[in-house]
Amino acid sequence: MIKGPRGTFDIIGNEFSLRKEVVEKMIAISGNYGFEQIETPIFEEQELFVRSVGDDSDIVNKEIYSFLDKKERKMALRPELTAPIVRSYIENKMYAQDPTAKLSYYGPAFRYERPQAGRYRQFYQFGIEAFGIKNPIFDAEIIVLANMILKQLNIEGYKILINTIGTSVERKEFNIALQSYFEINIEEMCEDCRRRIVTNPLRILDCKIDGEKDYVKNAPKLKNYLSKESIDYFEQIKESLDILDIEYTIDDNLVRGLDYYNDIVFEIVYDGGNAKNTLIGGGRYDSLVEELGNQRVEAVGFAVGIERILSVMKEQNENILENYNNSCDVYFGCENNEDRLDFLNLVTTLRENGLVCELNYNDRSYKSNLKQAIKSSAIYFITIKEENLIVKNLLTKEESIMTYQEFIDLVFS
Ligand code: HAM
Repeated sequence: MIKGPRGTFDIIGNEFSLRKEVVEKMIAISGNYGFEQIETPIFEEQELFVRSVGDDSDIVNKEIYSFLDKKERKMALRPELTAPIVRSYIENKMYAQDPTAKLSYYGPAFRYERPQAGRYRQFYQFGIEAFGIKNPIFDAEIIVLANMILKQLNIEGYKILINTIGTSVERKEFNIALQSYFEINIEEMCEDCRRRIVTNPLRILDCKIDGEKDYVKNAPKLKNYLSKESIDYFEQIKESLDILDIEYTIDDNLVRGLDYYNDIVFEIVYDGGNAKNTLIGGGRYDSLVEELGNQRVEAVGFAVGIERILSVMKEQNENILENYNNSCDVYFGCENNEDRLDFLNLVTTLRENGLVCELNYNDRSYKSNLKQAIKSSAIYFITIKEENLIVKNLLTKEESIMTYQEFIDLVFS
């Protein structure tokens, strides 16, 4: 038997319905903030991710699904959607009249990671990206939007972690300090971090393997290398969050695993039954539009991992999927094709007018058809007798004989 690729999943039935409702809610809430939807291709030139996410990031270095197309061009399945949205912003000249653009998206992303709970090779992100606004109050609003999404999905027990990573110039000096600090600990480091000492020491701070070790926790703090301007900017974000009573934790070691960030970075984490997971990650990326070839347009955004959200929702409400079971309004109990032909016109009319109708295609007895109708939560169970319908109201248990037209009048009265 051919199985689906490792780290992927199929989305079926009520799982699909729940997911659809969750995503629609995210789109609606973002719509209240003025975000419009965008969809971009699931594959791009690999170079886009090398230049944005960074070729030393795990995402590009180890996890990218890349391939040569028939003309030998290096392509990649997108590992994230920020870079493609920036590409599209530039390519479609969305800055032409006014650099401001607020875009939201939903779709699959691909990373060749070791599959485990909440970590897949094809997963889905909902996200928002806002261009052309640089203001700490706006950054706070972006975090509030992320928080509102979780609140309106009735998710509880999560934590908002925030940090500032300043400008690239400020980080340069910090990186030098980190380099000399970490060189002393090189023996204790994982293979990746040994390499990172040279290539990107900042990333050691949130290494999945070494990140929790004492020498990492006690490493020099970036905040001591930031300018007054960067610190003030961060303070103003905090002030706006305080006005709205949003609880947050400052995490000095939060640096995020993608290269394009500056100033505010944030993650929303959930420490529940199934391991600690980051539900949402985001931050500001003011240089990316410029790095990808346009004039400078500042930007900020975040992405939500849909599977992680669904997993928390299921953990916090065990019966949630039952609300999305397929239910039908009218169940036609057929014992043979003669019955089906008699019902065909009526069932089509009812469906055309918005009713969910089931016409069974297995020649079962009256009794087992009735059982099936009850199982599918139908309101009416219908059989036929000498040109007339026998209509059983499964809520009141009443049974009546009526013509086709009488039944139509009844359901649409
Ligand atoms: P990220 O932190 O790499 O950021 O991913 C965002 C979210 O996607 C994570 O918090 C997590 O919920 C989910 N996620 C990531 N990898 C996986 C996986 N293998 N399986 C399941 N879920 C996963 C970004 O992608 C940035 N583009 C976010 C952003 C938008 N920053 C600014 N704008």
